[in-house]
Amino acid sequence: MKVGEFHDSNRKIVGRTVLHHDVLESTNETAKELLETDIEEGLVVWADRQVAGRGRQGRAWASPAGGLYVSIILRPKEPHAWILGLLIGMPVVKALRHFGVFAGLKYPNDAVYQSRKIAGILCEGVYRRDVYYVVAGIGVNTNVDLDKLPPDVQPNATTLKREVNLFVANDEFLDYLLNQVDDLYSRYRNTRVEFLLKDYRGQCTTIGKRVAATTSKGKMTGRAYDIAANGALVIMDDAGGKHEFVEGSLEVLK
Ligand code: BTN
Repeated sequence: MKVGEFHDSNRKIVGRTVLHHDVLESTNETAKELLETDIEEGLVVWADRQVAGRGRQGRAWASPAGGLYVSIILRPKEPHAWILGLLIGMPVVKALRHFGVFAGLKYPNDAVYQSRKIAGILCEGVYRRDVYYVVAGIGVNTNVDLDKLPPDVQPNATTLKREVNLFVANDEFLDYLLNQVDDLYSRYRNTRVEFLLKDYRGQCTTIGKRVAATTSKGKMTGRAYDIAANGALVIMDDAGGKHEFVEGSLEVLK
């Protein structure tokens, strides 16, 4: 059920309107349904919990009450969800740092603190009536007790509540986050993506680490070395060969 609708005319595109629901299956799904109607770019769908939250690579995203679950509808000029999905990790990290958790980005866009995941992003590119949209779904473990997450997730996860001895209301976190995403999106529209990727590189804690990448071609280990101009993670294998990793699963080795 929709429990509120908020407006902020100071924002440029993202978060001028926020539709707040108590429970949804998935905010990404609701956002995609809204594409059938006449909506403004930057519209945000927010739910207090999700019963069928979705993660990357077909995984589920546990979405108990207390966490923050939002989807933002964007209409980028370039039909490319991929780089935008990478870059949206930056405002998420910025918001976490603002509220006291010095998080970084595990490639491609997991916000992590001390190797534990605290937020995830699922960006989906979709066409509706020949218009390309990106639905950027962001899930943040804000006021969640770790034991409310599935047992297999707990060892590699953390929450804002666990890391900070301060209650941060979700509406306050969301307000700050949307301001940051709004700024990022303006920069994305008006600057060359190389500059933004440079900033991304600075926040990506995977660079310099040994990693194991599993793709459709198989598994390889090496050192994460750089972010390529197309947003791929460049990995140098033990024989000095360079590989570009984009899609698959990535493990950061100790
Ligand atoms: C991941 O790290 O696997 C991505 C997780 C993305 C979760 C968010 S929560 C809001 C939005 N709605 C969803 O169903 N998924 C995204």
